[in-house]
Amino acid sequence: MRARRHGCWDHLIAAPLWVAYGANLGTLLRTCDAVGACMAVPRTPHYRGALAKGNTLPGRSCVHWVAPSKLGWLRDQRRRGARLVAVELTEGALPLPRAQAARHRTVVMLGHEHGGIPPDALELADEVLEIPMTGRGVSLNVAVAGSLVLYRLAGLM
Ligand SMILES: C[S@@+](CC[C@H](N)C(=O)[O-])C[C@H]1O[C@@H](n2cnc3c(N)ncnc32)[C@H](O)[C@@H]1O
Repeated sequence: MRARRHGCWDHLIAAPLWVAYGANLGTLLRTCDAVGACMAVPRTPHYRGALAKGNTLPGRSCVHWVAPSKLGWLRDQRRRGARLVAVELTEGALPLPRAQAARHRTVVMLGHEHGGIPPDALELADEVLEIPMTGRGVSLNVAVAGSLVLYRLAGLM
């Protein structure tokens, strides 16, 4: 394997705030590391356990612990100047190939495996990104969707 310098830029933050399955959180954490992003997750035993188990990376990962309220944290990020991007299949969403790399602090919301992103969080989004699909499935696995978007917003593809 190639050795490389790496540093988390702390301007791109994946926020799988509603993702339930540990395997998906572990996959997203690896993608975050690969693209120089951080991850924001609720400070609960479920997320702590999932990241501890799913973290296959050496050293410390850049994790922001969200507490007590997810919506409160999102509003606070916005107040501090972050752009809130929801990754979701919605009417009027921007197709991912048209999205530009993030130049300023950007929070990338990812939804629950069954329920998606709750409506009250979607309302806070400055932009919704959709990954075009032509197959028979109605949606992608959330870790796949998040990884594609993070690579794009990191400017790596
Ligand atoms: C399995 S999907 C949720 C599907 C859920 N049944 C729904 O209707 O919202 C889980 C998450 O993955 C992301 N996702 C999956 N496919 C996507 C796509 N094609 N475009 C944008 N986001 C997608 C979204 O964040 C979504 O909330």
